[in-house]
Amino acid sequence: MKLVLIVYYSRTEVTAKVATALARACGADLERIQDLRPRTGISGFLRSAWQALRGTAVDIAPAMRNPADYAFVILGTPVWAGRMSAPMRSYILQQRPHFRRIGLFCTMGGSGGRDVLSAMADLCNKLPVASMCLRQKDVLADDYRVALTSFADELTVLQSATPVAVAKPS
Ligand SMILES: Cc1cc2nc3c(=O)[nH]c(=O)nc-3n(C[C@H](O)[C@H](O)[C@H](O)COP(=O)(O)O)c2cc1C
Repeated sequence: MKLVLIVYYSRTEVTAKVATALARACGADLERIQDLRPRTGISGFLRSAWQALRGTAVDIAPAMRNPADYAFVILGTPVWAGRMSAPMRSYILQQRPHFRRIGLFCTMGGSGGRDVLSAMADLCNKLPVASMCLRQKDVLADDYRVALTSFADELTVLQSATPVAVAKPS
């Protein structure tokens, strides 16, 4: 049984930066959700907002790692139109039977993060063991280390209290 898998979607690398730093801080494996269709330009932006608002499930590449192999799965998404990103929604819908315990984080321009984390928890049908919302400008300025360390510390405490062999998720 491995301990922590961080799964994230990122269109412009902000969420990717946080996911990578968090993986380094807690020795986690990383899985990037890959779109099958590019989201560049204004049409990609508008399509992303529309899909997020509609709750559309989109095509994503098959996952490389099995979340059932991990005691904790941490899910990270950008906020799109006050919702989770469409690729993250698709990943959760595909993989949620395999989650044991979850943590959640999001990055955003400025608002909507708490509602997004709440919607993700609802979609997983689980309460997160840790969560954080970060603003894009703080991530880009490297002004998010306190929040990141606190999130990683919570995970470390939980990991040390987690038995090596864990029963299959229900
Ligand atoms: C389609 C779209 C809609 C967005 N809607 C919001 C929003 O409702 N609230 C917000 O604070 N930021 C919003 N943003 C900004 C992103 O959440 C923010 O830039 C995020 O950090 C980008 O992460 P990424 O680089 O990992 O894709 C939106 C961005 C896109 C592309």
